[in-house]
Amino acid sequence: MSSQMHLMQMLVSTATTHTLMSWTDPNDGQLDGLQDFAYWQHVARTLERGCFDGVFFADSPATHAVYKGSAVPSVQYGVSWPNHDPMPLVAAMAAATTHLGIGVTLSTTGTTPYLATRRISTLNYLSRGRVGWNIVCGFSEAEQLANGLGLQTPHDERYDQADEFMEICYRLWDSVPNQAILMDRKNGQFANPDLITPVDYQGKYLSCKAVGPVLPSKYGLPLRFQAGSSGRGMEFAMKHAEVIFAIHNHVPGMIKSTQNLHAAAAKHGANPDDLKIIFGLQPIVRSTEAEARQRAEELLERIPLDATLARLSGIIGTDLSKFDPDKPLAELQTQASQGLLAVFMNGSDGKTLTLREAASNWALSVGIPKIIGTPEQVASEFERIWRETGCYGFNLSPTTNPDSVDDFVDQVVPLLQKRGIFRTAYSGQTFRDNLMS
Ligand SMILES: Cc1cc2nc3c(=O)[nH]c(=O)nc-3n(C[C@H](O)[C@H](O)[C@H](O)COP(=O)(O)O)c2cc1C
Repeated sequence: MSSQMHLMQMLVSTATTHTLMSWTDPNDGQLDGLQDFAYWQHVARTLERGCFDGVFFADSPATHAVYKGSAVPSVQYGVSWPNHDPMPLVAAMAAATTHLGIGVTLSTTGTTPYLATRRISTLNYLSRGRVGWNIVCGFSEAEQLANGLGLQTPHDERYDQADEFMEICYRLWDSVPNQAILMDRKNGQFANPDLITPVDYQGKYLSCKAVGPVLPSKYGLPLRFQAGSSGRGMEFAMKHAEVIFAIHNHVPGMIKSTQNLHAAAAKHGANPDDLKIIFGLQPIVRSTEAEARQRAEELLERIPLDATLARLSGIIGTDLSKFDPDKPLAELQTQASQGLLAVFMNGSDGKTLTLREAASNWALSVGIPKIIGTPEQVASEFERIWRETGCYGFNLSPTTNPDSVDDFVDQVVPLLQKRGIFRTAYSGQTFRDNLMS
């Protein structure tokens, strides 16, 4: 367990947060935010005021079209659609802050290692080491189809491709060492070409022939996150990630997931004690417990089953319109997200849920536990879960924005600080300095 809790705020550059239909709520400002940098900069400044480690942009890069074999329900309800790009927001938010880290999801499907290295490193450079990369290998067939890559590559093979992807990124980053950069104005010599190693890589899936596109950064490589939780996903995480983001809908699941990750670390030559695991939590804060519960109900009531199943079907790669919502789910198989499927199917008592129960769990928070109550109750739950699971910290899923962020920062953060379990000031300058300390 870390000596203090670390906190990240999940955001998504689309109409909804994790809470479906959040855009219909009178408190929600995200629809306006889609057309305004100022909205995201407000959120960034609030999080920095609350001493958060950083933002974590999840990303759904293409429209889910598995449910009923169609994109219609996704479009009709604004389910993970529109698919706006979070990358420009990273720049806007970094420009509005000085300490806040900004992690962004960028899939290894639909881009090249060269472009990924160029985009992420340029932002890391400009933000003085405050940008992180959540490396996903694209679980959705929609993403492959949108990018002209045909039907979905099988699950483990996507990770094999992603390993090659990362190998090229490392080579591009290593291509230009610090000593190669002269910037000698007097003699007109920008760099010493003898010290630069161009990349010439030909793999089974990918190739790259290039000089590293960005200057070396004194802040090192962008901080790397990973969230795949299948066996192959964990192997990938051990190789490439500094911080692991996981979702479990209950504490026993979080403990089990931690044990699995520790076993994977031991198996793949990493030190289990070095793992930094952050779990998702969704706080719903009101001045009384009854009001907070009422708020959760109100948010849930307006979500049509079709909207939830459109998202779920996309995530697990199975058309859930073919299942009876009131029967326990049989063993589903998926080529999409195996890690998320496992979380989806089981309740806290270990029993398999019916589709309707699972959908209800997922509608507000994609299976992330909801922590509902007064600021004091929410702070206590955060502390309890942190201590019981021994995790490194939490990635917070908002319901409506920006009020969820405002409420947590103004009402819960001071209580965590009073308990001595969360920082009152930043100790470092870069994302890595703060999150890893
Ligand atoms: C907590 C969590 C968050 C994730 N966030 C994203 C995301 O924002 N965008 C995305 O494309 N995939 C996301 N994924 C998908 C994973 O990165 C991974 O590609 C997928 O779960 C398949 O891997 P697995 O079967 O090993 O879990 C997420 C998965 C988890 C468990």
